[in-house]
Amino acid sequence: MSLKREIVTIDGPSGVGKSTISRQVARALSFTYLDTGAMYRAVGFQLQEEEVDFTDEAALEKSLQMIVLDLLPAVEEEDDVGVFVNGRDVSKVIRSPEMSMMASRVSALSPVRKKLTHMQQAIGAKGKIVAEGRDTGTVVFPNAAWKFYLDAAPEVRMQRRADQLRSQDKKVDEEELLQMIIKRDNDDQSRTIAPLCKASDAHTIDTGALTIDGVTAAILRVIQENSI
Ligand code: DC
Repeated sequence: MSLKREIVTIDGPSGVGKSTISRQVARALSFTYLDTGAMYRAVGFQLQEEEVDFTDEAALEKSLQMIVLDLLPAVEEEDDVGVFVNGRDVSKVIRSPEMSMMASRVSALSPVRKKLTHMQQAIGAKGKIVAEGRDTGTVVFPNAAWKFYLDAAPEVRMQRRADQLRSQDKKVDEEELLQMIIKRDNDDQSRTIAPLCKASDAHTIDTGALTIDGVTAAILRVIQENSI
């Protein structure tokens, strides 16, 4: 059996509460929180800025080679991580629904996945990481010691996202939001490389009936009971 590493992976579709839960788990364990979705968002943002034609492989490779990503820990406990692309602070702009769709599009491109997977593996090489994403338990860290897959019905996830956007004084069209979530799920699950899917050795938690704190507690319990 391959050696397990002190890595927690938390995967699942959008809107299951992964980010908040991953941050809480990382804090409780004093591990580093790795937001892999933020990396796809940042690359999507930059490729859009440069108007790169995704079908032009040479142009895509050239652009990717030039992209320098820096991730900084959140300033406030509840904040998202700081993300800089080529020195520019994109922490806020990458969080819009449009950039979610863009991230999903670029995440289906093989050169993008290759670059970000390598970066993530380098960041996690020393262990003590809580990695959050879609493929962290299947592709990025297949030897992680503790793997979780969070799930919830699309309607539950839409309602959570709507509440979150409203709390930021943003206008919300619930039907449109639901359709975006369903489309993103389909895109993430049906792409040929590293599709969103549960690792066979991951613990599945349905977050629909649990509070955020309840899910975090459940995860910490599993980790405690399965110490390496
Ligand atoms: O977790 P998020 O909503 O910030 O992710 C944005 C998009 O990035 C998501 O639709 C799919 C993609 N993604 C991915 O393909 N693999 C990951 N490990 C993380 C995110």
